[in-house]
Amino acid sequence: MSQLFRKKSVASILAESDKNSASMKRTLGVRDLTGFGIAAIVGAGIFSTIGRASFEGGPAVIFLFIFTAIACGFTAFAYAEFASLVPVSGSAYTYSYVAFGELFAWVIGWSLIMEYAIGNIVLAISWSDYFTTLLSGMGIHTPEWMTMDYFTAKEGFEFVTNELAKGKTLDSIANSHYVQEIPKYLAYKDAPNVGFHLVVDIPALIITFLITALVYRGINESRKASNAMVVLKLAVVVLVIIVGAFYVNPDNWNPFAPNGIGGVLAGVSSVFYAYIGFDAISTTAEECKDPKRDLPRGIFASIIICTILYVVIALVITGMVHYSELNVGDPLAYVFDKINDLKWLAGIIALSAVVAMASVFIVFQIGQPRIWMTMSRDGLLPKKFSKLHPKFKTPSYATIFTGFVVGIPILFTDLELVVDACSIGTLFAFVLVCAAVIRLDADPNAIRGNFKTPFFNAKYIMPFVTLIIILVCATTFKEESKSFFNNEPQVTPAEKFVSSLSDKELKDTYITLKNITGNEVEHLDDYLSNLDEETYKSTINKLPVYEEKKTEQGWDVFKHKIPMYIFLVIYISMFVRCFFKRTSIIPLAGMLCCFYMMAQLGLKNWLIFLIWLVIGLIIYFSYGYKHSKLKNNPVVE
Ligand code: ALA
Repeated sequence: MSQLFRKKSVASILAESDKNSASMKRTLGVRDLTGFGIAAIVGAGIFSTIGRASFEGGPAVIFLFIFTAIACGFTAFAYAEFASLVPVSGSAYTYSYVAFGELFAWVIGWSLIMEYAIGNIVLAISWSDYFTTLLSGMGIHTPEWMTMDYFTAKEGFEFVTNELAKGKTLDSIANSHYVQEIPKYLAYKDAPNVGFHLVVDIPALIITFLITALVYRGINESRKASNAMVVLKLAVVVLVIIVGAFYVNPDNWNPFAPNGIGGVLAGVSSVFYAYIGFDAISTTAEECKDPKRDLPRGIFASIIICTILYVVIALVITGMVHYSELNVGDPLAYVFDKINDLKWLAGIIALSAVVAMASVFIVFQIGQPRIWMTMSRDGLLPKKFSKLHPKFKTPSYATIFTGFVVGIPILFTDLELVVDACSIGTLFAFVLVCAAVIRLDADPNAIRGNFKTPFFNAKYIMPFVTLIIILVCATTFKEESKSFFNNEPQVTPAEKFVSSLSDKELKDTYITLKNITGNEVEHLDDYLSNLDEETYKSTINKLPVYEEKKTEQGWDVFKHKIPMYIFLVIYISMFVRCFFKRTSIIPLAGMLCCFYMMAQLGLKNWLIFLIWLVIGLIIYFSYGYKHSKLKNNPVVE
């Protein structure tokens, strides 16, 4: 059993690092690291997923940005502390090897694949979307079958074919709410038939190939490319803020939180995705000139700069247009495209989005192979993963492998699923890194690095914070809290509701809706999903459908609360722990905030993540456990 928790000692990691670093180039300074941080953070999140989050939460989404920044800030202390203690390439993976032992380290390394490689799949696909839009703005049209994945195209093809069978024409669909289905239809229809319809996102594959090649070529070249892009994207974000501020109409900020706290929290995965990246800085530890001093500085500087930009941008875009218009993939370009004098700016924003996403891509594509390299040095992955290129001094095999891990799923990936998977995997890693600092804090003999998180004893602060939380739940969120703990019935979500209807109910529903709205409702599912919470409830209540289909109860309601109950159990255990063991409030707050966000990500994502972990454990027991360097020499407490 103790073998599972065999630990690496800090001294042995540092000795190895000295040996290895002779072969890596130490070229990065604090400015480069801050640049890397911003390069990793400002990407698809702010250029794209902020739209969906603002649509769900309204202008109040800024509270989610602030909350997420605070959570990331607490976590950044933990990352900075570890990066200064064990400045090697493995990031959270190495940290948990020191604090918790091998099994946890493997689990973290495995979760980080979700952050880096899966996060890059999101970026490649979003990059391709912006890039093809940009090309078409310049009059260059890319055939649709070269711009998306097979399943998206097939789904669109089936939808449009159905509509055509109902007597619609392509023109009428193009003039409707379903205009975005037409390119998908064309992609499938026009694709070369090679036994199946060859629909491939070529720009996404090309950018993956180019960036993998750049990163393969060397850290120095990648750094220069990445830093140059950072300057450009910061300039554009600042331009958006300054110009946009003149077009803000404060009436748009009213109502500030149209869908209440539920609406704001629905954006957790999108908003958190926008912050992912500051931790990637720590993977370059072996290539820093002075990692102990510069890594913490780089992490904090980049997180603070990005938070300020995000909050201001969120206020500007929700002030420029009504939040309900923001459910688009390119919200920043969209708000400017609506203003005649500023259409030129929309083009510049689209161009900078392409650049911004490419720079995030570079940082993650640098990070993933370095984590694998460290795991391979420890014997948990085959030796090839730590092989350095004789000339470029980069982990060449691991870099190419990363290229394939990102490239292949691009052919058949659902975007939303990948954003959620990326967020849940990363949050889990953050939780464990904070927990690792809590663990070190409790051990008076633990070796510590140059940077130490300021210590405030949680036992004096937690009761106070808990009291405030209870008071807020009992007053401001009284109804929500009561409904949560009493497991009260909930209105059935739109998709589930529609699929439960019989043909007759469906027909009657369309008629009733026509009477209520005065218009023909075309697609019930879409219509209902786009209503705000209150309107949805009242609409459902008016429909001629069996009452039991309108509400969910019992297990159907409870199962979605399981992640939240797990969070509560962790919260209470940590609360009790404070009184028995010396616990620092900063890593504890980081751990609990990140766990809370995980709990908001929904049961489906938890299940996907669990399956991912199980696959990881199978691989560990069939390879890493047997080949670990610590096998015959476990350093166990
Ligand atoms: N934070 C990174 C982005 O938004 C992952 O693209």
